[in-house]
Amino acid sequence: MRFEDKVAVVTGAGRGIGESYAKGLAAEGASVVIAELDEAQGERVAAEISEAGGKSLFVRTDVASEESTRAMGQAATSAFGGVDYLVNNAAIYGGMEMHSLLTVPLDYYEKFMSVNQTGALLCTRAVYKSMIERGGGAIVNQSSSAAWMGAGYYGIAKLALHAITHSLARELGPRKIRVNAIAPGPVDTEATRTTVPESILKGIIASMPLSRVGEPADMVGACLFLLSDDAGWITAQILGVDGGQIMRV
Ligand SMILES: NC(=O)c1ccc[n+]([C@@H]2O[C@H](COP(=O)([O-])OP(=O)(O)OC[C@H]3O[C@@H](n4cnc5c(N)ncnc54)[C@H](O)[C@@H]3O)[C@@H](O)[C@H]2O)c1
Repeated sequence: MRFEDKVAVVTGAGRGIGESYAKGLAAEGASVVIAELDEAQGERVAAEISEAGGKSLFVRTDVASEESTRAMGQAATSAFGGVDYLVNNAAIYGGMEMHSLLTVPLDYYEKFMSVNQTGALLCTRAVYKSMIERGGGAIVNQSSSAAWMGAGYYGIAKLALHAITHSLARELGPRKIRVNAIAPGPVDTEATRTTVPESILKGIIASMPLSRVGEPADMVGACLFLLSDDAGWITAQILGVDGGQIMRV
């Protein structure tokens, strides 16, 4: 119960990896805000956490909207008294349009960046003051191994999240807020099944030392560790959780 009496916001927690993060945090005692665009899925996850004996609140949130993220921060504080942890997991991933950088319609590119890159910044701005008031906190940004793979606008947004992680770690470290990122390899979510062609996935998995796809449950330990006091002197780091897909020197 590492997160008893603590409050966590998980964005994009209506399904997939975010849902697993939210349930993992709730199972260790946190009150969890499901900050999600999809109302039906967000309500479902919050209800399932409550049925399992946890504390949870769904707040319909568009991470790309300053107004919406501010309202989410206020709703979290009204319901649970403040915020200690933020997981910036939401992204346009499942069902994303596939274009090359040279041909992507500019309005789609800008929409994509506003969610996958700026969203993490807006959510951080919405909750960091509460973290300061409560004596500190921790943030995990959800990147991807794609950040290091020249993976078009999806990779660009994830690489930008690394820079946001580094800069926010500098700005918030003196206020006792740690900021790290997780870079998952291929994880078997509905989004991956519908977005990544099977032949490409098979090729990636064959090249990995631990030659299997990840499960959402494989991601939870790393996220909870980075949020917890066990990681009390860790900030500004990008942790690969990817079966060895990426080897950086
Ligand atoms: N699954 C993988 O293989 C994999 C690998 C590396 C990184 N990731 C990253 O992990 C995260 C989750 O992946 P997933 O497979 O669970 O994806 P997913 O597409 O199933 O989940 C994303 C969630 O974000 C929500 N969302 C989208 N736009 C939003 C917005 N504007 N505001 C609030 N919520 C919004 C969606 O409704 C959805 O519930 C994403 O950041 C993804 O880029 C996934």
